[in-house]
Order: sequence, then structure tokens, then C-alpha cells
Amino acid sequence: MRVTIFGTGYVGLVTGTCLAEVGHDVVCVDIDQQKVDGLNRGVIPIYEPGLEPMVKANHAAGRLKFTTDAASAIGHGEIIFIAVGTPPDEDGSADLKYVLAVARTVGEHIERPAIVVNKSTVPVGTADKVRAAIAEALARRGAQVPFEVVSNPEFLKEGDAVNDCMRPDRIVIGSGSPEAIEKLKRLYAPFNRNHERIVVMDVRSAELTKYAANAMLATKISFMNEIANIAECVGADIEMVRQGIGSDPRIGWHFIYPGAGYGGSCFPKDVQALARTAQQCGYKPELLEAVESVNYRQKGHLFELIQRHYGGSVAGKTFAVWGLAFKPNTDDMREASSRRLLAQLWEAGARVRAYDPEAMHEARRVFGERDDLVLCDSAHAAIADADALCVVTEWKQFRSPDFPRLRSSLRDAVIFDGRNLYHPDQVEGAGIAYYAIGRGRSV
Ligand code: UGA
Repeated sequence: MRVTIFGTGYVGLVTGTCLAEVGHDVVCVDIDQQKVDGLNRGVIPIYEPGLEPMVKANHAAGRLKFTTDAASAIGHGEIIFIAVGTPPDEDGSADLKYVLAVARTVGEHIERPAIVVNKSTVPVGTADKVRAAIAEALARRGAQVPFEVVSNPEFLKEGDAVNDCMRPDRIVIGSGSPEAIEKLKRLYAPFNRNHERIVVMDVRSAELTKYAANAMLATKISFMNEIANIAECVGADIEMVRQGIGSDPRIGWHFIYPGAGYGGSCFPKDVQALARTAQQCGYKPELLEAVESVNYRQKGHLFELIQRHYGGSVAGKTFAVWGLAFKPNTDDMREASSRRLLAQLWEAGARVRAYDPEAMHEARRVFGERDDLVLCDSAHAAIADADALCVVTEWKQFRSPDFPRLRSSLRDAVIFDGRNLYHPDQVEGAGIAYYAIGRGRSV
């Protein structure tokens, strides 16, 4: 099928590439000429495992094209995806300016019947706005072209996006049009194997499903972080508690890892946007507000442990920081817990030597040049000349460090672990003081 995708960010690029991989004829449009030129030369703007070879192979096979020419791209697609960003505006609601700009462009250029599919995470009611924007642009040029607007939210995880897209656990299609539903079922047929993964529903339910999924996952994390903090107060170990509850299938093992708070481009933004939507309907979303405020507090927790250890004074100390990305297998630092920790350390007069396996380039962009930051090219370089170590992202390569080497390298022989990567006995046995999240026995 002929597919057009607006937006070559995570969602657009991964979706477009996976659709091309199963044989569809895909054109991706972006307004950023540099990005499009890069993609046409095989330069992938994001770090996402498995994506680069797939983009290159499908581009070479002629099934995946990149362009800034919206008009010709609209002419190409029988299905047109909107996968552009919805950044939060000042009050936390999703800013729809990019989505609606695409809708207007579609209305300006569409010549034959098409299905417009919203893949961006958008508040409930956005499909109506997209429909109105297209209709208005069509009316302005005096054209009459039938079109449908469908909601088809994505559930990709950064770092595992290609796999999520190729092997989705569900495909949500929100539409009232039997023809549109049929067409999307055909589009997704190569991904809908072994058992039925397609869930068809009305547009608004599909829009809300996306927010509900992310808010539920964020709630699990904030819940565990709260229990972890209680565990610290009462002298219990959250890692034991986690194992004690995860085996109950009603609770499950996923997303119950306590840590330095959730970050990324989705959870913080989506929880906030859903809360805003609720407030706008006159409903006070008490649970969502708590999820958000617990997360904000959690992002400061590692620093609290640091202050506790140093009796409130860290001025002049140097902290090695392992991990800057908001999670492993990505170079994304949006809303990353590391950013808050570094800001707090700097504010308190400390210095930082940081290392991340993928996010160094991003760190340079985010932090710029500063006297109190050394960006190191290895985990070992970061601990050289440091007083203490903070672990903020659970990259695999940080999981089994050489503790005797850490002991002799870190002047104050102390580790603050924001992801509970180590066993306290192992660290303390090496003569290193160990602070982790919710491990009451060690604080
Ligand atoms: C999230 C969802 O997991 C995807 O299903 C969704 O499609 C995506 O948002 C989106 O809306 O686009 P992502 O932001 O890539 O995906 O990252 P996650 O793997 O969900 O992690 C989010 C944050 O939660 C990270 O900072 C991670 O460290 C933290 N986390 C996760 C925990 O602190 N504890 C856990 O147990 C799990």
C-alpha cells in the first residue's frame, strides 16, 4: 500500500521504516531539510538499535523515501500518517500546532480520497480538530475530496522501538468508518500474526487508550518509588518487597523498579497532559497529580542521600556520574533524572565527571561548556579523580564494575546508586559505602 508519514522523529521514522520493511511503499515527509538530506544519505538522526540497517536497506530498495515536498508526498499516500511532535505548552497541555499544521497542509493538497491517521499522542478530541482543519483547507480551495480521520496511537519504547513496531502486542484502531478500518487492517496484516492483535474502537477511546497506558505505567513507577521511600524509613529492602509482590500476576514484574524517577519524552508529558484534560472537563485528577509530584520528588532523592552522607555539605566535592540518558539504549536526555541531579550538585558547589555510553553528544548540547563539568570518554575516566560515584542510568556495562578498583579510585569510597544495580553486601564487602533506592538496611 502507498503510505505517507509526516514527521521523521522516533515514531514517524520507526513506523515508516517498519511499514517499508513489510513491503509497503512509504514516503516520509519532514520540514527539516538537513534531516531529510541526512536520511537520504543514510544518516539516522536518533540512536535506536536496529533502525539504521533497516532504514538503509529499505531506502536502497526504493520502498522508503524521504522528502520535504509535502504536496507530492500527499499525492503519494492512500494512507497519510501524522506523526509529528506534541510538545507540552506552558500549562502542560499538548501543543497541537504541528499536528494541525499538517492537517491544513493535507487539506491544501489532497486530490483523491485518503485516510488520515493520527499517530502522535494527542488529547481526546484531536481527531475532530484534525478533521475540521482538513475540511476548512479543502473548503478554502473549493475542493471536495472524501477523507477519514482515524486514531491509531503508537506504543513504542525508545531503545526497543523497532521490535515493538515489528511485533506489537496490540494495534489500536479508532474509527467509525468500516472502510477505513478495513484499510488499516490490511496495512497492519503483516504485523497481526499468530493471534489477533488489532483492537477496533471509537476514535475518542483510542485517543484516551494511549494516555491511559502511559499513565498506568507511570503510576506503577511512582507507586514503587513511594514504597521504596517508606522502605527506607522503616528499614526494609524494596528489592525484597519487589520480588514479594511481582510474582502476583495481578501486579506483574514489569515497571515496578524503583529508581531515580521516570523521564523521557512520554511519561512526564503524557501524565501532565492527561491531568490537564481532566481538569479542563472539571474533574480533579488526584491520582495523576500525585503520580507527577511523587516523580518530581523522586528525581531529587539521590541528592538527598548524598546530602545525608555528607552532612549537607558537598561544595568542592567531585562526583562521577554514570549514565545521563533517561534510560539505557538511547541517547535521549529529555526529562532525564541526571539533569536534575547535576543541577542540584552544581547548585551545591560540587563538580561532575560524567559518562554515558550514547548520550555524550547530547550532553554536550544540553549542558554546553562549563567549568564544573567534565564529560569523560569512559566509565573509568569518570571515576578517576572523583570523590564519589552516582549511578543514574542502568546501562548494562555499569552492572558489574571492578569494586576494588572503585574502592581505590573514589576518594570517599561511596556509591549512590539511583537504579539499584548492585547488592549491598557486594559493595559494602569491598569497603565502599553504598546508598541505593529504598534499601533501608543501607541508610
Ligand atoms: C514509554 C512507554 O513505555 C511506551 O509504551 C510508550 O509507547 C512510550 O512511552 C510513548 O508514549 O511513546 P519510553 O518513554 O521510551 O516508553 O520509556 P520507558 O521504557 O517506558 O521508560 C520510561 C521511564 O521510566 C525511564 O526513565 C525509566 O528509567 C523509568 N522506569 C521504567 C522506572 O523508573 N522503573 C521501571 O520499573 C520502569
